[in-house]
Amino acid sequence: MTSSHIDRIRTDIAHNARVWNYWLGGKDNYSVDRAVGDQVTSLYPSIGEVARADRAFLGRAVRYLAGEAGVRQFLDIGTGLPTADNTHEVAQRVAPEARVVYVDNDPIVLTHARALLTGSRKGVTEYVDADAHDPERILRAVGRTLDLDRPVAVMMLGILNFVLDTDTARSIVRTLMGAVPPGSHLVLTHPTLEPALGGAGNAEAMAFWNANATPPITARSRGEFASFLDGLEVLEPGIVSCSRWRFEAGPEVAQFGAVARKP
Ligand SMILES: C[S@@+](CC[C@H](N)C(=O)[O-])C[C@H]1O[C@@H](n2cnc3c(N)ncnc32)[C@H](O)[C@@H]1O
Repeated sequence: MTSSHIDRIRTDIAHNARVWNYWLGGKDNYSVDRAVGDQVTSLYPSIGEVARADRAFLGRAVRYLAGEAGVRQFLDIGTGLPTADNTHEVAQRVAPEARVVYVDNDPIVLTHARALLTGSRKGVTEYVDADAHDPERILRAVGRTLDLDRPVAVMMLGILNFVLDTDTARSIVRTLMGAVPPGSHLVLTHPTLEPALGGAGNAEAMAFWNANATPPITARSRGEFASFLDGLEVLEPGIVSCSRWRFEAGPEVAQFGAVARKP
């Protein structure tokens, strides 16, 4: 880590990775993050449940991919701060030889990257400091660690919501999925305002977030979420609350989850 990385850390404004860490019960956050996190919770009380459901979905999806689907390479964009059961831990528990590359653009995540880079001895765990808006750069960087001629699980959990323009978000997904071979997978979660999933309170919470925290966020409809999966085979049970993806218990949350395979 260089001093420029530390200089990029802002403690005067709430950052998504740190507030997400706060909602998950972590300690890697500042008072400004906790204050914004509490305010969002008061506007949208299920946000903690959303964060926990998203992580539980991550665990189930990666276990499926490393197990039944036999995927051995994972590209996890929008890593977040280390927590319990990070992608490489789940994947390498099933397949110790799994290769995992994390990507995030938050300097605080970068400072914690070393904690993530302790994968299994047979596998590889790498970290790339890059912005999701530049998928070509991500592909160039991961090409050093992943074999892009073999299937890759591209994971974008809770991150396309920070790409505000839907066409841009679609183009990012298309570029990434265009660079990986058939048998690759796309794993997505994304917040929504869909009332049936309890998303109504999310609008006010997101407006508060956008006025007080960074980076700005947006929700998407089921149709917009589905458009990210165009050209891919969406696996059962389709686009659902991430809390219900291959899991029957617990309430639905206003966060879509899906896993799709490149034919
Ligand atoms: C809501 S957290 C989700 C973390 C993890 N994927 C999960 O599902 O628990 C979103 C993460 O995306 C990162 N992020 C946001 N915008 C980004 C961008 N443009 N490029 C790279 N990372 C970004 C944030 O720093 C944060 O760590």
